Amino acid sequence: MQISILGSGYVGLVSGACLAEIGHSVVCTDKDESKIRVLNEGGLPIYEPYLKEIVARNVEARRLSFTADLGEAVRHGDVVFICVGTPPLQDGDADLSAIDGAARLIAREARSSKLVVEKSTVPMQTGQKLTRALAIYGRNSKNSFSVASNPEFLREGTAVLDFLHPDRIVIGVGDESAEKQLREIYQPILQQSVVPCAVHGGVCPAKDVPALLVTSINTAELIKHACNCFLAVKISYANLIADICETMGADVEEVMRAMGLDPRIGPAFLRAGLGFGGFCLPKDIQAFIRLGEKAGVDVALLRDAELINKRRIDHFLARATQWLWTLKDKRIGLLGLAFKPNTDDIRFAPAIELIGRLLQEHAEIRVYDPQAMARTQEVFPTIQYCADPYDVADGSEALVIVTEWSSFKELDWARIRGLMQRPLLLDGRNLLDRDEMVAMGFEYEGVGKPSVEVSPLTGQIVRTSSA
Ligand code: UDX
Repeated sequence: MQISILGSGYVGLVSGACLAEIGHSVVCTDKDESKIRVLNEGGLPIYEPYLKEIVARNVEARRLSFTADLGEAVRHGDVVFICVGTPPLQDGDADLSAIDGAARLIAREARSSKLVVEKSTVPMQTGQKLTRALAIYGRNSKNSFSVASNPEFLREGTAVLDFLHPDRIVIGVGDESAEKQLREIYQPILQQSVVPCAVHGGVCPAKDVPALLVTSINTAELIKHACNCFLAVKISYANLIADICETMGADVEEVMRAMGLDPRIGPAFLRAGLGFGGFCLPKDIQAFIRLGEKAGVDVALLRDAELINKRRIDHFLARATQWLWTLKDKRIGLLGLAFKPNTDDIRFAPAIELIGRLLQEHAEIRVYDPQAMARTQEVFPTIQYCADPYDVADGSEALVIVTEWSSFKELDWARIRGLMQRPLLLDGRNLLDRDEMVAMGFEYEGVGKPSVEVSPLTGQIVRTSSA
């Protein structure tokens, strides 16, 4: 199938590369010409595991190409996927101007009839508006446009895996031919017949074949928002329990482990910490709240989940201040900047809020992240970017784990302890084993756990908070 991808960000690039990987002929474009230039020079504008290899292989096989010529890209595809950004507006609503721009572009540049598929996350009824826009802008053409919704469930850091081995594929359609085309596009994935798999090589671990759900366009749009908001609620619930654990004395990880063993609840997305970030959950919950308000539905549950998340950094700073007395002029090291591991994405990352707040307090900040340093440097040019975690620890009075990169677990923690001015670990992701760290002589505070304070004079534990 000939496929066009409008928007070569996380969603567009991963989708385009993976669609080429499963045999389609794909042309990707973006209005940001610098992105296309990087791609045509063999680079990637984002970091995502396995993506580089897939892009290189499919460019080589001539199944995948990138062009800054938007019209050429539109004309290539029988099916055009819209993967443009839908960032939040001031009031929380999704900004759909890029979707409107894509509709105008398609209507203007198409020389044949096309199936136009929304892949960007959009509020319900956007498909209806898109259909209307295509009809209006294309009113002088002989071409017809059919619209479908095919929400993505890709997680950054595991996006290629999620694309090639999804749990489900949702297609929202208004006509049979759209369903037929989308079934054909996803056939290799529905049959799990992509060999060798870009992630697993020869043999993929056993997994059920993905479910294909065919719905109306409205329903498909709602499914995406409903999923992401439920995940956000789940995380905020874990964080609420963590706060109770901290004040009343219990261990949130043990509580969540027990909860997760109940199949009605499930273990995923119950990790308490500094809260959810990234370009999906925070903006999707905002947009969904706005949608509910407009629909006259009580969305207090979502508002509270959002509020709990917004307060994570306040709460964390209050705890840090209890430990450090004042933050002014204190050297504080941050390990991790990306909103989660295995990505370089810092959009709505807790680290960004945390750095901003620490700067307000006039703390001296040193940071390290395996992938997200360059992007953070654009936002905060004046803080200290370190060569490695040991450099961050050097002379620090506290080390904060902001992102749970697995490589941080493997550090030489005894060496870190020796480098720090005060061996205080504020583990914002419960990455490290508290008992191990305490045995090594660290003072340790996790999230939703009893903290351990060590006497600077004797090295003995002087206070374990409740529990
Ligand atoms: C999300 C959805 O998971 C995905 O299906 C959708 O297509 C896009 O949005 P993503 O934004 O990549 O994916 O990140 P996700 O893995 O969902 O994590 C979001 C945030 O929640 C991260 O900041 C993460 O650290 C945080 N999180 C996640 C927790 O704080 N606790 C958890 O238990 C899980």
